[in-house]
Amino acid sequence: MSERETWTSRVGFILAAVGSAVGLGNIWSFPFQTASNGGAAFLVVYLLAVFLIGFPAMLGEFVIGRRSEQNAVEAFRSLGFGEWSVAGGLGVVGSFVTLAFYSVVGGWVLSYIVGSVTGAYLGDPGAYFGAVSAGPIAVATHAVFMALTIGIVALGVTDGIERATKVMVPAIFVLIGGLAVWVSTLDGASDGYSYYLSPDVSVIAGDLAGIVPSAVGQAFFTLSLGFGVMIAYSSYLGRDDSLPADGSAIVVVNTLVALLAGFVVFPVLFAIEGAVPESGGAGTAFTALASAFSQIPGGQAIGLGFFVVLLLAALSSSISLLEVPTSFVVDRTGYDRTPTAVGLGVLVAIAGVPTALDTGILGWYNDVVFNLLLPLAVLVIAVFVGWVADDQLAEELDLGSSFGDDFSTVWLWWIRIVIPVAIGGTLLLGIQSLLVKAGVLSAPVILG
Ligand code: PFF
Repeated sequence: MSERETWTSRVGFILAAVGSAVGLGNIWSFPFQTASNGGAAFLVVYLLAVFLIGFPAMLGEFVIGRRSEQNAVEAFRSLGFGEWSVAGGLGVVGSFVTLAFYSVVGGWVLSYIVGSVTGAYLGDPGAYFGAVSAGPIAVATHAVFMALTIGIVALGVTDGIERATKVMVPAIFVLIGGLAVWVSTLDGASDGYSYYLSPDVSVIAGDLAGIVPSAVGQAFFTLSLGFGVMIAYSSYLGRDDSLPADGSAIVVVNTLVALLAGFVVFPVLFAIEGAVPESGGAGTAFTALASAFSQIPGGQAIGLGFFVVLLLAALSSSISLLEVPTSFVVDRTGYDRTPTAVGLGVLVAIAGVPTALDTGILGWYNDVVFNLLLPLAVLVIAVFVGWVADDQLAEELDLGSSFGDDFSTVWLWWIRIVIPVAIGGTLLLGIQSLLVKAGVLSAPVILG
């Protein structure tokens, strides 16, 4: 078996983790979720979820990964708790299912890059979305997106993931920052900002049962938690890194990109009348933006920039999703990385075909991941770290950390009590929300 790789530098790890975190979740879902769920009022719930639940949970994955130097499944075994490997197994399944539909949306982005260059969506943005989002074109672009993902993962941790994210993450920043400045000059920009950020508490109060699980699910998704990505990535890390410092950097940068995405999207939508979507279904972001790009000055170029950012963000996340099952198989069997990544990638691509044929099925994959798999996976990891693993994990947090051992003590109690309670509640609300959507329940019972 070849020797296990490690990141070449601390910055390499941070950029790879930021690359995983920053994705379609930040640029595609976040602005629309915020706008349709009460603006700044939703933002407060979301930020609380990110910093109070997501950040400590991320540290939980970091200690498991770095202590064990193993992939998400073997990590539990190598720490001496083999029966908890199911937690990692849940992550492998979760990342597999998520990548299956994530890649289909990545394929849509490819179609919109082509459409920005050729002008194909300018005439009839709704028809364009219909043509590229489900059917043979969607299957083909999904396959291309998966091929790009497989290519990078097959090259390895340093030559593939680290090298790619070192270029992609700074490019995302420069492009999205540039776009935010550019669109601030559009007529209607200030109306866009106030729509995005003005708090509407009544929306939250009216749908607490739906908004809380969405905000928490969004927080976990955007931070790439639950599926073992952060376990796998931190397993390639040296002992002298400060996990709390690295984790804070990742969480803050990820949040900034999400906020910045809103500063790009809303001025564009408010530059033309009637472009602001009523609700944020899977396709509304694409159709609403494409119709705005077709009407504003310089819209085609802004559109191209926007969809390129979206592609880079999506790819730097999809590689982390494929890395979870790949590292598991490579560590476990000693197979070569290249055929493993190709084989697993092809299986994911096949699993994604139904979602490339029907956006309704894609919506279901998405809802099951957000409302069920993600909170469940994070809950299991938190219970493991807080109650099952012994002190070795709290000690691990102190290694290389300048935050002091009071920090790790508070963190441990937080992960023991606060996080399980918060996620348990969210999980109940999430299951309820799935049952309401499926028509089993006619209205929410809890917080209804
Ligand atoms: N964090 C990514 C995004 O916001 O788009 C998506 C993601 C990647 C979720 C990896 C989960 C994961 F394990």
